[in-house]
Amino acid sequence: MTQNEIYQDLKTKLHDVVPDVELRIKSELAFEINKLKVERNAVILGHNYMEPALFHSIPDYSGDSLELSRIASKTDKDIIVFCGVRFMAETAKILSPQKTVLIPAKKAGCSLADGITADDVRRLKAKYPGVPVVTYINTTAEVKAESDICCTSSNAVAVVQSLKSETVIFLPDEYLARNVARATRRHIIFPSLTGGEPETDTLLDKPIIGWKARCEVHEKFTLEDIQNIRKQFSDVVILSHPECSPEVVAASDFSGSTTEMIRHVQRTNAARYLLLTECSMGDNIMAANPEKNMLRLCSIRCPHMNEITLEDTLEALRQTRYVVEVPEEIRVRALRAVERMLEIIPSAAD
Ligand code: 13P
Ligand code: SF4
Repeated sequence: MTQNEIYQDLKTKLHDVVPDVELRIKSELAFEINKLKVERNAVILGHNYMEPALFHSIPDYSGDSLELSRIASKTDKDIIVFCGVRFMAETAKILSPQKTVLIPAKKAGCSLADGITADDVRRLKAKYPGVPVVTYINTTAEVKAESDICCTSSNAVAVVQSLKSETVIFLPDEYLARNVARATRRHIIFPSLTGGEPETDTLLDKPIIGWKARCEVHEKFTLEDIQNIRKQFSDVVILSHPECSPEVVAASDFSGSTTEMIRHVQRTNAARYLLLTECSMGDNIMAANPEKNMLRLCSIRCPHMNEITLEDTLEALRQTRYVVEVPEEIRVRALRAVERMLEIIPSAAD
């Protein structure tokens, strides 16, 4: 696409969301990035939470964590530029060690990945010997290396069910663990590693052993938000990400990964939708489905996803920065957990 074609395309999709002057600047950047991407034999992967102009101009593939991991494992390009947060880029490196993996921002963390250490997992394994450890993909490579299997928001229930184990350790998202426990009819225990009594939720027989990290974005949505919206718009369909609290998920009409939410909006025909997730995604869905009525109440932007910009993506390609490395000894152990997830749960697209 020429720069003008990119600009026209962005204008058609984003005229309601992004000011025109910004679209002009962004289309110039996107044009430069797309040119350099070809010259450097790179592929750009963009998570669904990327800001609208970036999301609609430069990714060769966009999707949720699971979809992007699958693509990262199969690409034949020399360079993977990951427009997402660090744990996603690390997962790409774990799966494709021979490729150069770049992330446009140096830190691009995640409150879940920062919420547990490999040492915490080793202590849990010592406390519950032999119990399989499932870790959410939103974790560091070191934490994945201590796990038996990874999961994402789109396959967490299926991964737990696949283990056929009485007890399962599920780390580190408290709310995702509670939502998975509910879906698999298990009770949840939050262990004390300092000698106190563990905290137990209900009396269903099989336990999930959880951890108390949370997504700093999704924990902000409340049941009261849902009640207020439903009072005002009785025909609204509410979609929530499974990193929201169990109360919020239970009061929603649909809960699923970022891509599952997008598909639900595309497949259904409601009078209006409300997304309880990161707010760029609402803009991205709106741009892709202009005929749908999305309530724009969201004001919670993930500060880590927000670090990824078109400007820095251009610099990433120009300067080959920031290169994501995972020490080989950690990578091979983390790979087992990621591959086991990819093997057990084939995607519908495979
Ligand atoms: P998805 O795997 O659903 O895209 O979620 C990733 C994430 O970080 C959500 O906050
Ligand atoms: Fe992490 Fe939450 Fe941001 Fe997703 S939205 S990257 S879980 S902090």
